[in-house]
Amino acid sequence: MAGLSIVILAAGQGTRMRSDLPKVLHELAGRPLLEHVVSTARQLAADAIYVVYGHGGELVRERLQSLPVHWVEQVQRLGTGHALAQAMPFIPSDHHVLVLYGDVPLISSTTLKRLLDAADSGRLALLTALLINPYAYGRILRDESGAVRAIVEEKDASPEQRGIGEINTGFLCAPASRLQDWLARLRNENTQGEYYLTDVTGLAVAEGLQVQTVAADSPDEVLGVNDRAQLASVERLYQRRQAERLMLSGVTLLDPARFDVRGEIQAGHDVIIDVNVILEGSVRLGDRVRIGPHTVLRNVTMGNDVEILPHCVIEGAEIASGCRIGPFTRIRPETRLDEGARVGNFVEIKKAVIGQGSKVNHLSYVGDSTLGRRVNIGAGTITCNYDGANKHPTVIGDDVFVGSDTQFIAPVKVGSGATIGAGSTITRDVPPNELTLSRAPQVTRPGWKRPVKKVRTHE
Ligand code: UD1
Ligand code: CA
Repeated sequence: MAGLSIVILAAGQGTRMRSDLPKVLHELAGRPLLEHVVSTARQLAADAIYVVYGHGGELVRERLQSLPVHWVEQVQRLGTGHALAQAMPFIPSDHHVLVLYGDVPLISSTTLKRLLDAADSGRLALLTALLINPYAYGRILRDESGAVRAIVEEKDASPEQRGIGEINTGFLCAPASRLQDWLARLRNENTQGEYYLTDVTGLAVAEGLQVQTVAADSPDEVLGVNDRAQLASVERLYQRRQAERLMLSGVTLLDPARFDVRGEIQAGHDVIIDVNVILEGSVRLGDRVRIGPHTVLRNVTMGNDVEILPHCVIEGAEIASGCRIGPFTRIRPETRLDEGARVGNFVEIKKAVIGQGSKVNHLSYVGDSTLGRRVNIGAGTITCNYDGANKHPTVIGDDVFVGSDTQFIAPVKVGSGATIGAGSTITRDVPPNELTLSRAPQVTRPGWKRPVKKVRTHE
């Protein structure tokens, strides 16, 4: 093959989504449908990828401007043949052209490679599928010898043709020079008054060109998204695949149907993930990591033997080996937990370093802070990092023991080995190795009596 140009058709209106958002921007596993198709296209080493956009197109271009594609506008939506014709002027005539769809996101690169092979040496290759219910699809018409003669659309088909189960998926590959010629000859004399891309098949046959058909590895791959119910089915299929891939790589998922990946995940061996866990962005898990139920991890890296107890939300964190987190912990971006650190119930950590072996076990807020090694933060401790205008740091040295219900009014530094008495409000730097506390003295009023309720008498 001299060269390969890929054209993704994405100018459809997506009326059945009943949405203000263009269809190809609706998300599958947290990424726009079109982005999935572009990433698959990129695995085929094409010379160029074109996206034909139309309805709501400016928004599509804007949202997906970082994609390495050429944008081609189809001003009037006159059919799939017309859509492809918009990209043809940009494509060298010695290239092959592969046509993909912005709303058919599960297509695999292995199936597409077989389609490319079938189109080699100048043939027209069609991706087809056998369906029990072929309703609404274009049907493949073959002659007695089994050779493909044409494609007929549902709306143009005779009752007899409607009985054919072999359908056109729409995916095709052909030499650009032939396509240029065929597309220029398309007529729109059909039920829908559209220029059908499928009519190139009849034109190829008339020229004596052999038409090759290829079946998709799995019928799921060619499912299109036209409404939100189909979007949900495609999402489930996608998630099932992710789950299977992970399980086959040695991860235990307690229920693959209750597990979602919306990004890239890498996991070591003997990782165990309980139900209702959502992984987003880039997630890396070391060996023997255990993740409890009902947890969301987004952009997190973990070392080995980390244990996440139930109900945690962790984002933008680097967690070293042997840490234990949760239950009910929230960790916010720019946080680092060093080896063996522990963060417990109802604790929020933001932009902080929790040193090796340090513990923040109960009901605390630690933000803009650096904790040394073996620090123990008592229950209910708060770093008051915000003065209403700016954020300030709290720095705590190694081996510091902080009594419960302490407030650090940042900026403040605590020297190594210091002990802070419970209930203290720390407003100034604390020296190392001493006990520091700020506490109103405890008093007792001997003989004090509780007030008693007055008894109301009727007059
Ligand atoms: C098309 C095929 C049909 C096939 C089916 C598979 C034709 C004539 N028919 O039918 O044989 O079985 O797909 O799903 O090709 N699009 C544009 N611009 C247009 C029209 C369509 O970009 O002017 C895009 C749409 O965004 C969509 C795709 O092309 O992604 C298919 O268009 P659609 O109208 O859904 O074609 P079907 O009637 O389903
Ligand atoms: Ca369709």
